[in-house]
Amino acid sequence: MRRRILSVVLLLVSLVAIGGLMAASLDPAQEWLKSKHANRETAIAEATVESRGPLAAHCARCHSEQGFLAWLPQLMAGNPGLIVDPNTGKPAEVPYLTQLGLTKDKVQPITCTVCHGEGFALRVKGSTPMLPSGFAAAGVGDGAMCMTCHNTRNGRIQWDSSDPKLYTGPHEAAQADVIMGKNVYFLNDTAELVSPHAAFVGDSCVTCHKTLGKEGHTFEPSETVCASCHGAAMKIEFVQEPTKHLLEQLRVAIEKKVLAARDKIKVVTAWDPKTDKDAPNTPIDATQIKSVDLLTIHGQLSFKFTMADGAEVYSQIGNVKDAPGEAGKPVFATSDPIVRAAHNYMLVVYDGSMGVHNPKFVRDVLLTTIRTMAQ
Ligand code: HEC
Ligand code: HEC
Ligand code: HEC
Ligand code: HEC
Ligand code: HEC
Repeated sequence: MRRRILSVVLLLVSLVAIGGLMAASLDPAQEWLKSKHANRETAIAEATVESRGPLAAHCARCHSEQGFLAWLPQLMAGNPGLIVDPNTGKPAEVPYLTQLGLTKDKVQPITCTVCHGEGFALRVKGSTPMLPSGFAAAGVGDGAMCMTCHNTRNGRIQWDSSDPKLYTGPHEAAQADVIMGKNVYFLNDTAELVSPHAAFVGDSCVTCHKTLGKEGHTFEPSETVCASCHGAAMKIEFVQEPTKHLLEQLRVAIEKKVLAARDKIKVVTAWDPKTDKDAPNTPIDATQIKSVDLLTIHGQLSFKFTMADGAEVYSQIGNVKDAPGEAGKPVFATSDPIVRAAHNYMLVVYDGSMGVHNPKFVRDVLLTTIRTMAQ
């Protein structure tokens, strides 16, 4: 009799336990649906042959299930470059990309099978292979899965280069670069500048964006995530507010340099954010520029000028010229420190955590860049 009661109690206990477990990881599919990983619109816009042509061999690596799964074996084998067609050994062309399903009707976003292989095991763990951003991340636990895509994709930057020879900006996905302390100018990033948040919290990205949160597969960190490790006194604002302040100081320092050269600015290739169209040789009265903001347009470092009358003029930095037509030269050459400073600024902005991912590194980068701009 006693035994019987005991087993009923045990059964009840285990039912409650199972209920608790199910509540903890509600339903990965429901959570995932709420996340941007489920956003098929981005996959259609960035990872299909219809919208990108052969360039889908570039973007589809991280912007689609099919592209990622075709690319992963090659990445693991040491080639982080464009998706290769195994039949030719060369970057894939439209027919092969079409065959992979990188078309508007078939493309899939970042689905379960992107991250999970057999038995739900993560496909990448512990360390990453060489990434498109030109470095590998060692000893980062389950976060290695995230870093395969969340990196700046454009190869390694030479921190002390006096002329990068291009205006390319960091990609929107700057998290791995920032947390590993890589790909900035002016600060020696060949040193070990990895964040303790990548190296010493077990699973880096996954620890904060899943394990310690309640939102599971939305990968949203909880508002009190800092307290889990640092105690209740540590608030996210302690890092984010000073970072925002330094970012604004850097923006103003860059603005000052741009305005100092405004006598030379005669035309821009004006970009329309609504239509995504470019208008070359658009005259601009640079004496009327009131403020300068930074962004990237089609991956290129760019300015947004706000004029005295409130009008907004957007242009890639390389298209801000001293004369119309063939004779026009960029006012800011690729060797101008403004270009490297703009890169550092956008890297911190695109990381999206306002310093949290690597507090000391971000602070050092911003201070060093501000000092360089003041010279
Ligand atoms: C190495 C992986 C990788 C490659 C290659 C890549 N991207 Fe991305 N991209 C990402 C990730 C990850 C994000 C999301 C970053 C975030 O939200 O912080 C992103 C974000 C974007 C966004 C912003 C989306 C939004 O909703 O705001 C655009 C636009 C974009 N990518 C376009 C492209 C295009 C076009 C290409 C090809 C030329 C490309 N990407 C190649 C990883 C990549
Ligand atoms: C962007 C990568 C990613 C995607 C997409 C993803 N997962 Fe996960 N999943 C993880 C990570 C990271 C963990 C936690 C580590 C682990 O358990 O290996 C996890 C854990 C799980 C677990 C174990 C229980 C839990 O919640 O921790 C299940 C079950 C699971 N995922 C199912 C799914 C399903 C179903 C989908 C699609 C609806 C999905 N996952 C999409 C990364 C992903
Ligand atoms: C296959 C590539 C890929 C992998 C792997 C991946 N992501 Fe993403 N992630 C993306 C893309 C692409 C977007 C942006 C989609 C969009 O904007 O439509 C994104 C968006 C996000 C966002 C939302 C960003 C925002 O601006 O709101 C978070 C948070 C995120 N990912 C976290 C993670 C974490 C944590 C992992 C690892 C468990 C991970 N991702 C793995 C490609 C990837
Ligand atoms: C120490 C905890 C921690 C770690 C580790 C961490 N993150 Fe974050 N992450 C955050 C916090 C906190 C924010 C800011 C959220 C906010 O401001 O609302 C953030 C912001 C982001 C964003 C911007 C979009 C969003 O959700 O607000 C992305 C994307 C992201 N992290 C991805 C990653 C990736 C990928 C990694 C690993 C390379 C990583 N994170 C590692 C805590 C962390
Ligand atoms: C999973 C555990 C964990 C979480 C969550 C976490 N941290 Fe940390 N953090 C650490 C560890 C470990 C260190 C390194 C040891 C130390 O300084 O105490 C560290 C160091 C720091 C540092 C020192 C500066 C640096 O770059 O080394 C700051 C500032 C910091 N964390 C802020 C935050 C903030 C703000 C949050 C919340 C958004 C947060 N941390 C969330 C574990 C964590």
